[in-house]
Amino acid sequence: MLNHRKLAELETSPYVCDNTVVFFVHIPDALQVSAVGSFNGWKKDAHPLRRIHDGWWISDPVQVPAPARHLYRFQLDGERFYDDPLNFNRTQNKHGPASFFDTWADIPGVSAQLNGIHDSLIQHPPGTGNPWVRDLCTMFLDDYLLQPHVNRSSTVRGFLVQRLFHALDEIERTEVRNGVRVWYIYNHGYVFKTPKICFGVDVVTTRHIWNLAWEIPDEIPERLARALGMLLVTHNHSDHADHEIIARMTAHQKPVIVPSVLRPHFSARVTGIDAWERRSLRGVDVMARPGVHVYDNGRNVPCFTYEIVTDTGVRIFHTGDHDYAESLDWQEPPDILIPKFDGVTPKYPNEKVLEILFRYGDAGLIIPGHLSELAHYPLGGRASLRDALSQFQKCTVPYQILLWGESYLFS
Ligand SMILES: [Fe+2]
Repeated sequence: MLNHRKLAELETSPYVCDNTVVFFVHIPDALQVSAVGSFNGWKKDAHPLRRIHDGWWISDPVQVPAPARHLYRFQLDGERFYDDPLNFNRTQNKHGPASFFDTWADIPGVSAQLNGIHDSLIQHPPGTGNPWVRDLCTMFLDDYLLQPHVNRSSTVRGFLVQRLFHALDEIERTEVRNGVRVWYIYNHGYVFKTPKICFGVDVVTTRHIWNLAWEIPDEIPERLARALGMLLVTHNHSDHADHEIIARMTAHQKPVIVPSVLRPHFSARVTGIDAWERRSLRGVDVMARPGVHVYDNGRNVPCFTYEIVTDTGVRIFHTGDHDYAESLDWQEPPDILIPKFDGVTPKYPNEKVLEILFRYGDAGLIIPGHLSELAHYPLGGRASLRDALSQFQKCTVPYQILLWGESYLFS
């Protein structure tokens, strides 16, 4: 646990998986640090952290009751209290302020049910499988994934890993003869394969996503980086930009394209693209458009949308986290539109998103993206699969809801 990466890379603390928690904190000048909280009766020496390197302290894995909410603070040198600076979940109890975390326990049988879903999805693939079976799988998954603290479950992580291995096996062995095959990886990350090239947009593994930091086998980012000949990144949020995949790709001289304005946030080998710039990369034409991600009370972040024309002539439009502010236009209607479909910005609920998407002309196929992003909370950006399904079922526009690891051939 936590052994394959530097603590300094983790943006949130503590690390929680099921009923196990690991505390870590950066306090260079302390002589002793311990975690005191509701799980140990606020006893000051029950769970000491040990100093590791560069002022970092870490606890052994601590088993605590689950599912439950636990309050804690750090105690320094047996005296003063210190709030966890990497945990923005704060509350008050009778002793004063405290940070908190939530643990998770799956109900028995969930793992077997998810295995059943995995098998059913393989038997009933997008486009050709039984739509009723697919809808049932989608709704079961949605009910499971909308539980607020399911992102602490090793079972759901195992399910994603199973789905990603399935996708990787397919990506590696599938020959595409015409059109483009699209694989859904996670959140708004897709892999596209044509006869000539395999490339990705916003491909992430969950390993480095804020508030998830899931333990994912090394093989997954490595195989993704090997499969991809090029990667486009819409902006520098960890649910869209996976710096590990980027590093693995650039180490092999593969192009990774990010908005120029965000170039300083990425390693030197990454290439910037300007707004309105058009570039031909390995047979694929890419046009970058400026967008804006309406974020945290006006802390808007620049975000590009990408209009891509594959070597097979398929026009793809990926909106990244662009929040549809005033413009969502394209040169020609895309064959495949992959919009953000979530509720991160209350100003743009899904009905409004659909209205805006349809106002700009006909897309050949809509694949709703940014679904089930588990680092977001339900009603705070964790888009519901069931909601996407019911919204699109009301429309005449062709759509495909892809679930983790699934693919669809557009030809
Ligand atoms: Fe996002």
